[in-house]
Amino acid sequence: MEKGIFVTGIDTGVGKTVIAGAIAASIKTHGLDVGVMKPVATGAREIEGKLVSDDVVYLKKTIDSTDDDDLVNPICLKPALAPTMAASKTGGSIDLDKIWKAYRALAAKHDFVVVEGIGGLMVPIDDNTLVADMALKMGLALVIVSKHYLGAINHTLLTLEYARSRNLRIKGIIFNMLKNGEDFVGEIGRFTSVPVLGTIPFKENVCVEECEYGDIVEHFRREINISNIMRKET
Ligand SMILES: Nc1ncnc2c1ncn2[C@@H]1O[C@H](COP(=O)(O)OP(=O)(O)OP(=O)(O)O)[C@@H](O)[C@H]1O
Ligand SMILES: [Mg+2]
Repeated sequence: MEKGIFVTGIDTGVGKTVIAGAIAASIKTHGLDVGVMKPVATGAREIEGKLVSDDVVYLKKTIDSTDDDDLVNPICLKPALAPTMAASKTGGSIDLDKIWKAYRALAAKHDFVVVEGIGGLMVPIDDNTLVADMALKMGLALVIVSKHYLGAINHTLLTLEYARSRNLRIKGIIFNMLKNGEDFVGEIGRFTSVPVLGTIPFKENVCVEECEYGDIVEHFRREINISNIMRKET
């Protein structure tokens, strides 16, 4: 079995948090001890002097995680900017060691860790590290979240191509928030052999910002064979 999975996306706002939460909750129902991680979050809110990321609150809620926020989200920045820009605006750079230590602690503590990236694969974390390098350093395979919008064919195929060029293992693509998107899925399929793990429709009762996951977890468990994500190919 894999030690975890790295959930990335073709863009920001495509549903990485929603899908990562559904993966974590589905794996938990298999009786495994699951952890969640958002190594770097930006756009955090300040609540009673503490920075809080909506993604982290949502991810933890899906599995009732009691892990310390410092482990789940070692880097939490207030400016709603790309990580390196948010870090320099707050007078510093991102401490990668903090990320690796937190990941090692979560991996040691749990059977399986679901990690949500930030933005897409080529988002810089520091001068020498992209999100793709984080996934490589953690040794995790990717689930790539895609969404149907004008420009998304290009974003999806570029993401797949880049992942392949970095020798990242790809479990497959999940198409999220599909509204009559069958043509889109077919179009992607014409240009890649990467497996489609499943499709998730737009659901009115889902909202990361309000920490509402509605029935997405049940839907996800019906639609997506979680063993395709958990199983390690030999
Ligand atoms: N299947 C869905 N049905 C309805 N709303 C959804 C669905 N998936 C995601 N959303 C909503 O779309 C928005 C973006 O989703 P989400 O926060 O999961 O994206 P993300 O890729 O994690 O974004 P970020 O790059 O900010 O981390 C959120 O408001 C979320 O509630
Ligand atoms: Mg997110």
